[in-house]
Amino acid sequence: MSALLELDGVSAGYGPFRALFDVSLTVPDGTAVALLGSNGSGKSTVARVATGLVPVSRGRIRFDGRDVTGWPAWRLARLGVAHAPEGRSVFASLTVEENLLLTFRAALGRGGVPDALARAYAAFPRLGERRKQSAGTLSGGEQRMLSLAKVLANPPRLLVVDELSLGLAPVVVDEVFRTLQLVRDNGTALLVVDQHVGRALALADHVVLLSKGQVVHHGPAGELGDLAEKLMPGAPV
Ligand SMILES: Nc1ncnc2c1ncn2[C@@H]1O[C@H](COP(=O)(O)OP(=O)(O)OP(=O)(O)O)[C@@H](O)[C@H]1O
Ligand SMILES: [Mg+2]
Repeated sequence: MSALLELDGVSAGYGPFRALFDVSLTVPDGTAVALLGSNGSGKSTVARVATGLVPVSRGRIRFDGRDVTGWPAWRLARLGVAHAPEGRSVFASLTVEENLLLTFRAALGRGGVPDALARAYAAFPRLGERRKQSAGTLSGGEQRMLSLAKVLANPPRLLVVDELSLGLAPVVVDEVFRTLQLVRDNGTALLVVDQHVGRALALADHVVLLSKGQVVHHGPAGELGDLAEKLMPGAPV
């Protein structure tokens, strides 16, 4: 399968601080890649580089075969690259249903709205129960469900997920991962950073392990279970 996203010898950082050193990785089209590593190893920086939020100082970024090095986030977004939870933004003053209607109308046209609403509420019954509530008063987990429901309606080609399940109750984490699986099954490629290593590995086809800003392992997800536990003992699964 061809590479959808390719980082080739990428270095990047913040001001004089270098966070990534010669990072190369690929996300094949339609697959999920788990990006693992201890705190501060550079996972979020990779997520930001991949979505145009942090510029690279060396190396190339390719998307769907095109060199997109130096492209700003909005331009990558047009190609179908989405970043969550940055993409989590919901309209706080609108209700849950108004948020969904806005997205669904724009993405699918009026005719597609009833079906899309039904699918969103089937995937997230909680959103159905709270359809009249203003989105700004939803809990953090519910807001993430709402943003994922929007993603489901208008699937990006690549969804970069950085700690989307952070601080959520286990049952909500389950829902988030079920939805990510759904997003993937719909053909969206995923680059997933999550402290729930076991769940991320269960979702992933490939895994990339970062240490101190460098890739120290890149391979099929199945091989890594024990190694992940050794590198990140006690991490929630
Ligand atoms: N905005 C910033 N300005 C300066 N340094 C930063 C900035 N963001 C991250 N860093 C530094 O870059 C390095 C990599 O950070 P990054 O956030 O990518 O790590 P991470 O693997 O996502 O960590 P965590 O698991 O804690 O989220 C760290 O040393 C961090 O302190
Ligand atoms: Mg991070």
